[in-house]
Amino acid sequence: MKLSIKLGKLELDSPIICASGTFGFGEELRGLVDFKAIGAITTKTLTLDSRKGNPPPRIYETDGGVINSVGMENPGVEGFIKHKLPLISKLKTKCIVSVGGFSNKEYEEIIRKLVELNGVDAFEINLSCPNLKLKKLVSQNSKATYTLVKLLRKLTKKSLFVKITPEVTDIVQIAKAVEDGGADAVSLVNTYFSMAIDIESQKPILGNVYGGYSGRAVKPMSLYKVWKVAQNVNIPVIGGGGIENFSDAIEFILAGATAVSLGTVNLVDPDSSKTVLIGIKEYMKKKKITDINDIRGLV
Ligand SMILES: Cc1cc2nc3c(=O)[nH]c(=O)nc-3n(C[C@H](O)[C@H](O)[C@H](O)COP(=O)(O)O)c2cc1C
Repeated sequence: MKLSIKLGKLELDSPIICASGTFGFGEELRGLVDFKAIGAITTKTLTLDSRKGNPPPRIYETDGGVINSVGMENPGVEGFIKHKLPLISKLKTKCIVSVGGFSNKEYEEIIRKLVELNGVDAFEINLSCPNLKLKKLVSQNSKATYTLVKLLRKLTKKSLFVKITPEVTDIVQIAKAVEDGGADAVSLVNTYFSMAIDIESQKPILGNVYGGYSGRAVKPMSLYKVWKVAQNVNIPVIGGGGIENFSDAIEFILAGATAVSLGTVNLVDPDSSKTVLIGIKEYMKKKKITDINDIRGLV
């Protein structure tokens, strides 16, 4: 049974990727999860300087999912290199480093600092963090997306993925800008803008007022976007948004995803990749599928 997939030059033994921000830097979960089930982990999004993130409360559990406004808390690129990367390198899985920034220059500087380092297998450029009080996300503008991807593409031969927001009118236009800029894969979706209000205090529940919604409830909308994008670009799609179990994962693959990303479900069970992979294998056996790549995009 073949479960390996390719995203640009990067070959993963499993089509399951742990989504950024929901799996720490992986090393914190050593001993608790079966890393062999995970094709790759994606780190929390790194910025040039360390960030404390948004004021608390930052996570609110609500119907069918969670709203988060973590706000890219991270140790900064130097802190990552010093304290996290040596431990990540020892894990039995690949590592995709998520890169964030507040200007094109910042993204550029982070990639330059990481590009030659062992243990960094690929980059995921986060153009879609919803809780930073930005006027507009980069991936809400196809021209800005294209310009930045093209700039970063020149800096590395490692695989370069770009994560985009679902909060646009025409997600295909943005995904095409990612492809035209030279990325090896497009990753979707990041979270959906959302908020919750406490009617007793008559105040927003999150310290940041609003945040990004993820988990079970967003699956049908995310699946649609992945299907739509996969039909219109020639680069692989990393698909996710609300995946909780193996049948969700199979739906995304049938819709055209090459790899599936598991996010919020990791907050409930960090070893969810293992359960999902077991389910995928059983499904393949039942359906007499020998290569996971054979069912991609059948719908
Ligand atoms: C607590 C939390 C923190 C997140 N932090 C990041 C982040 O730092 N960078 C990023 O690209 N996405 C971040 N995300 C978005 C997830 O990677 C994922 O794209 C999104 O949650 C949709 O997938 P899901 O429904 O499976 O969670 C975060 C999500 C959650 C729930």
